[in-house]
Amino acid sequence: MSRTANRSIAPAKGKLGILMPGMGAVATTFMAGIEAVKKGLGEPVGSLTQLGTIRLGKRTDNRTPYIRDFVPLATPNQLVFGGWDIFEDNAYEAAAHARVLQPELLSKVKPALQKIKPMKAVFDKNYVKRIDGPNVKTHKTLAAKAEAVMEDMKNFQKANKADRLAMIWCGSTEVFHKPAAVHQTLAAFEKGLAKNAPEIAPSQIYAYAALKMGVPFANGAPNLTHDIPALLDLARDREVPVCGKDFKTGQTFMKTLLAPGLKARMLGCKGWYSTNILGNRDGEVLDDPGSFKTKEETKLSVLDQILQPNLYPQLYKDLYHTVRINYYPPRGDEKEGWDNIDIFGWLGYPMQIKIDFLCRDSILAAPLVLDLVLFLDLAHRAGMKGIQEWLSFYFKAPMTAPGLYPEHDVFIQLMKLKNTLRWMRGEDLITHLGLEYYD
Ligand SMILES: NC(=O)c1ccc[n+]([C@@H]2O[C@H](COP(=O)([O-])OP(=O)(O)OC[C@H]3O[C@@H](n4cnc5c(N)ncnc54)[C@H](O)[C@@H]3O)[C@@H](O)[C@H]2O)c1
Repeated sequence: MSRTANRSIAPAKGKLGILMPGMGAVATTFMAGIEAVKKGLGEPVGSLTQLGTIRLGKRTDNRTPYIRDFVPLATPNQLVFGGWDIFEDNAYEAAAHARVLQPELLSKVKPALQKIKPMKAVFDKNYVKRIDGPNVKTHKTLAAKAEAVMEDMKNFQKANKADRLAMIWCGSTEVFHKPAAVHQTLAAFEKGLAKNAPEIAPSQIYAYAALKMGVPFANGAPNLTHDIPALLDLARDREVPVCGKDFKTGQTFMKTLLAPGLKARMLGCKGWYSTNILGNRDGEVLDDPGSFKTKEETKLSVLDQILQPNLYPQLYKDLYHTVRINYYPPRGDEKEGWDNIDIFGWLGYPMQIKIDFLCRDSILAAPLVLDLVLFLDLAHRAGMKGIQEWLSFYFKAPMTAPGLYPEHDVFIQLMKLKNTLRWMRGEDLITHLGLEYYD
């Protein structure tokens, strides 16, 4: 219930430019969705910043404003979009190709989307093996490519008269790789850029460019990007907020809803088998074992962190957890995820739970993109820098300070997010103790 000083937050005036490396299904569903919302053609369902409220003070105070009225956020009308992709399709063509949104809706926002043409991408086929395209930068060094991305950003900002920028990686999942010496310090990283170090991934070049320009950065995919000392130091130096990784949408979202409930009731779990069919381009990229390994790492870590087998060995020590993603083109973006969960109760008696989630990947991801860019922009205007752990709510593999385990329980994450907003505005934090009602 500690009240803190009201942080001074610069107003959200002017336009906010959203820059997206990767103009595929998620990015274009987001852009088209915002254009539709601007025209009153749909509601931003799934977005906490647009539909969510926040309780302030006591339950008896009846103060529950919308989050968007409580903290100064940019509105959908203030957003403008840009991006990079290895394919030349503009946002309308890319959205049509992704086949997430209905052609009738897309045709109503066509003029705005057609104007968003992808800038030439920084691409390396060693990092995404299943796709290749013509719209790529051909500079000799990675350093020159990073400079070119910064140039793109400046040109975009000028052309769109954007007051501020935020960048969010919505590109394909890059292959699994571990931090190397070149990632340890900014000096080593910059030397690596000049010498074309093979350990520097394209996503890291966009992140570097954003941070160098003082632009907040989020990673929607599971690949190693700005979660390395070199780029985290740069974020702190430039006083830029960052967050990641890997949007928490379909099956993993369900896991982080269910697993805390099982643990709260001290019910055991012997096995959790998850499998998916997915037919979009993301599914095609994830069909490559290197890209799937990156995804598998983030998907598997969630249950371990929530169930804490080290604290509850009788319940979770022997948990067998597997995750499969199968590329199945007929389904497109309309993924189906099945979970079989073998749980046990009183005296070890077994029970089973089955989930069959017929979801739409990009429909679930688009509102997360919106919330993330708006909250990152807010954090930036509030002078917050480095990893924004309060945005863990949106991620499968939340970034944390070194040595700190991430919080995966979606309800704890939401409480943390809302308490951070209260703290920003100097409101009492809500602990749910509630003794005052009975004094
Ligand atoms: N949709 C979800 O629910 C969800 C959840 C978690 C994570 N993600 C991740 O978000 C990302 C985007 O998903 P999607 O469904 O839009 O995939 P997508 O395949 O439709 O789009 C990715 C786009 O990135 C482009 N790309 C690849 N490398 C690039 C580079 N170096 N520079 C610029 N563009 C590049 C591709 O050409 C493609 O157009 C993926 O990494 C996916 O794993 C999605």
